[in-house]
Amino acid sequence: MHTKTAQKLDTTFKQEVYQGLTSYPKFLSSKYIYDKAGDKLFQDIMNMPEYYLTNTEFDILEKHKDELAALFSNDSKPFHLIEMGAGDGKKTKILLHHFTDQNLNFTFRPIDISQNALDSLEANLKEEIPALNTESLQGTYFETLRELNFSTDERKVILFLGSNIGNLLHEKAIAFLSQIQEYMQPDDLLFIGFDQKKNPQTILDAYNDEAGITANFNKNLLVRINRELKANFEVDSFIHWEVYDPESGTAKSYLVAKSPQKVHIKELGLEISFDAWETVHTEISQKYDAKTVHWLAEQSGLKVLEEFSDQKHYYKNYLFTKSA
Ligand code: AVI
Repeated sequence: MHTKTAQKLDTTFKQEVYQGLTSYPKFLSSKYIYDKAGDKLFQDIMNMPEYYLTNTEFDILEKHKDELAALFSNDSKPFHLIEMGAGDGKKTKILLHHFTDQNLNFTFRPIDISQNALDSLEANLKEEIPALNTESLQGTYFETLRELNFSTDERKVILFLGSNIGNLLHEKAIAFLSQIQEYMQPDDLLFIGFDQKKNPQTILDAYNDEAGITANFNKNLLVRINRELKANFEVDSFIHWEVYDPESGTAKSYLVAKSPQKVHIKELGLEISFDAWETVHTEISQKYDAKTVHWLAEQSGLKVLEEFSDQKHYYKNYLFTKSA
């Protein structure tokens, strides 16, 4: 049961937390995990041996950097290398170093909503690759892609790495890809990382590490709601729970209440009750097979040009173009 006073839900964060925690079953969006502490925990996840995604994509980029240089630059034509969700650029730097060494004529354009994140990435790149031309784009992915589409005739090569696409269920992934496709010209390219279906145990281990880093990452949602919305979640009375369905390829994260409890969220004027073992669904991390990737592409007005894989077939990067 919940009560609501005349509190104003004046931010999307407040609205979405309100909606998710007053629904049955309860849910929260994983995008809210990423505050400063969440970003740091995600860095720690990427360094865990169990989280094979990062190193595997790193190896694919390293192995195929020559081919990618040729495909992206298309006979030495200038291009914009646009990265959605660049983070610290660790993987992208493989390409940035190589393309700069090869004297490719390109501008690196990381997109991020946070000017802070862009400033620190730019400062770091200036130091590490002084010859690189970086022009960051502050805003949402779609605002900035639309603007670029109208302001340049040069080729756009759009990167979306890390299997970030997997945090969207298929319907949302299709809406997302279709929108990108609308802002692409026939010559533009889209390069996306897709984590692949594999031994289900390997996937469960990646999302349920023994050290509990992923559990802390998931619980950071509650820590953040406590701090920003003045709530009193007892974070330790929830457990992190991961399930993976090998048929659909969907890994799901939950927070599960260990005992019946009431939580007050002052900024929302809301009191919520949890039964013992009640769940809050927090994240999906979709795993793919070839049929699914081709189906997503077809549904989104894209076609597969090339695909690149590691030796174990754990992960694939696909290169797409507009289909018509
Ligand atoms: C950012 N995203 C692709 C990660 C994933 O694999 O779904 C986030 C993550 N969640 C738990 N571990 C990592």
